[in-house]
Amino acid sequence: MASGPKILAFAGSAWKDSFNKKLVKFAAQGARGVGAQVTELDFADLPLPLFDQDVEAEEGLPAGVIRLKELMREHDGFLIASPEYNSSISPMLKNAIDWASRSSGPDDTPMSAFKGKAAALMSASPGGLGGMRGLVTVRFILINIGVLVWPGQVAVRSAHDAFADDGSLKDAARHEAVERHGSELTGLLAKLKGESN
Ligand SMILES: Cc1cc2nc3c(=O)[nH]c(=O)nc-3n(C[C@H](O)[C@H](O)[C@H](O)COP(=O)(O)O)c2cc1C
Repeated sequence: MASGPKILAFAGSAWKDSFNKKLVKFAAQGARGVGAQVTELDFADLPLPLFDQDVEAEEGLPAGVIRLKELMREHDGFLIASPEYNSSISPMLKNAIDWASRSSGPDDTPMSAFKGKAAALMSASPGGLGGMRGLVTVRFILINIGVLVWPGQVAVRSAHDAFADDGSLKDAARHEAVERHGSELTGLLAKLKGESN
């Protein structure tokens, strides 16, 4: 029997109480529930310097970037929860995408981390729109670099009041929608891999 799709799940935020880190965990749970193999990546464990073309030219890609690119290449798709900063993508996520879009050497094409991948997007914010404006930018960037982005998305508003003490979403229907988001990406990836009909 073929193994399920491999999904890399991460948030565009690293602080310990990040709402988006909490959110992506539930989408990961939903994906696992329908057979995906999910790797959860915390950018706090993979610190990336700010992109600098001099650093790249003089030292090559930093170790964290090499690891990030490896992880991305090893997986079929991405579950991404991105905070909204000033109506746009978080700098942490943009920086990671920018680094990952660079070639690590003659044997690596610049977009190897994104080629043939699909992604599903979500966001959480204390604001009333749940960070959904930022997802417009995230979607735009990913599509432009060749990632197939799932049309649906989840945006959790009033995030400071949305999570229970155990980290789950207080609203059961919303919690279910986040898990379903993970399962929908899994279904798409399975179809792309020819594992489903
Ligand atoms: C520089 C900055 C800009 C922000 N801009 C927005 C914004 O445009 N819209 C919004 O809903 N929240 C905005 N926020 C609040 C974030 O949604 C909030 O910090 C949230 O906790 C970020 O998600 P995280 O907890 O996963 O890091 C901003 C926060 C910072 C630090």
